[in-house]
Parts: sequence; C-alpha cells; structure tokens
Amino acid sequence: MAVSGIALFGFVLTHMLGNLKLYQGAEKLNAYAEWLREMGSPALPHSGALWLLRAGLIVAVVVHIVCAYQLTRINQKARPVGYKRRATIQATYASRTLRWGGVIILLFVLYHLGHLTFGQLHPDFVAGDVYNNVVVGFSVWWVSALYMVANLALGLHLYHGVWSLFQTLGVAAPRGGDWRRGIAAAFAFVVTVGNLSFPIAVLTGLVG
Ligand code: HEM
Repeated sequence: MAVSGIALFGFVLTHMLGNLKLYQGAEKLNAYAEWLREMGSPALPHSGALWLLRAGLIVAVVVHIVCAYQLTRINQKARPVGYKRRATIQATYASRTLRWGGVIILLFVLYHLGHLTFGQLHPDFVAGDVYNNVVVGFSVWWVSALYMVANLALGLHLYHGVWSLFQTLGVAAPRGGDWRRGIAAAFAFVVTVGNLSFPIAVLTGLVG
C-alpha cells in the first residue's frame, strides 16, 4: 500500500507541476505535452517512454487497489463487532476517509481520462491542443465544480495517506508536536492548491 502510494504521490505531484505550464500559455503547455510523447526518442518509438511510465502507473494503481481491498478484509475480520464510539477513534476515521476517498478518486480518474486524454467526454476535444482542451473543458461550470470536489477528496486522501505512510514505515510519533501531521498537511496542501487553481483560473478568466 505504502510503496504504490509513494509512486502515485510522485505522479500527482509531477502532474500538478507540469500542468502549471497552463499559466505560461498555449505554446508552452502544448510543447510540454508533445515533449512527453517525444521523450526517449529516437532510441524509443513515439510515445514509447510515455507508455513505459503509463505501465508503471497502471501497476501502481492496481497494486494500491488490491492492497486496499485486502487491508479492508483483514480489518473487518479482526474486528467483526466494530467500535462502540467509532467517531472518536482516529484510525477508524482516517481509514474510512481513505476508502471512500479512494473510490471517488478512481471514478474521477475514469471521467478525467475520457475528458482530457481521450476526449469522448469533452465538448470540443482537439488532439494535441491540450491548452484548448483544458480551457474549453473548464469553461463548463459544473465540470470545474466536479474537478474541484474530486481534488478536495484527493487532498484529504493525500493527507491521511501520507500520515498512514509514516505509520507503515514505522516512523513513530515523536514526543511533543507531531511533525508527521505537518508534513502530510504540507504535501496535501501543495498538490490541492495547485490543482484547484486550474479550474478557478479558467472560470475567473485569468486563463483563456
Ligand atoms: C485540475 C487538475 C488537473 C488538470 C488540469 C489535469 C490535466 C490533464 C491533462 C490536460 C491531461 C492530458 C495530457 C496529455 O494528453 O498530454 C491529463 C492526463 C491525465 N491525468 Fe490529469 N489533470 C488534473 C488532475 C489530475 C488528477 C488529480 C489525477 C489523478 C488522481 C490525474 C490523472 C491523470 C492521468 C492518469 C492522465 C493520463 C496520463 C497519460 O497517460 O497520458 N489528473 N490530465
């Protein structure tokens, strides 16, 4: 769970940083998208390195989901009766948020692929013109709202996920202030603010 989580965290962070090119204009963002496909050329065919990265990403997603399912089953078997005061038990709250957050994020990614990668769910998809696809895509207010809700869910998931990662790796809670929460919050904050800024920038006319 933790190792695949680190890989997926690396993806969402680099994806957000790459998308910041939206603020540099159409030429820069589209050139970046083309560079992703040209990476590794001429040693590799067009999109070859990108497909290797995609394969790694797919493996990480599958491992993450399978581990989440197995962990849920183990937890259910270990505690068939359930806690009396669930709401006050921190670990239960975090694991429930992680599970439901994970389902929301998975549904979002499926929609997102149809929207900005393959284009079937986009009103005016132009292959290779990522800037147009993002701007036209986010001009529809409810689509932007959907992205914002999903990215808030992702933010919570990253916060609890990074914190759980410390537990898994055995980084114990230090005496005094728990800096593990601070680090988890900082990581989640950076990715979430970056991602929320894109639909907001389009809706407010800052980008367009
Ligand atoms: C507002 C935030 C986001 C924006 C503006 C955005 C934008 C984009 C764009 C434009 C593409 C197509 C790129 C291309 O064809 O070159 C893309 C692909 C993708 N995005 Fe996002 N994205 C956002 C958030 C996310 C999040 C939160 C996730 C995951 C949790 C995600 C996962 C993906 C994946 C898996 C792909 C396919 C990458 C590939 O294999 O080519 N995106 N995104």
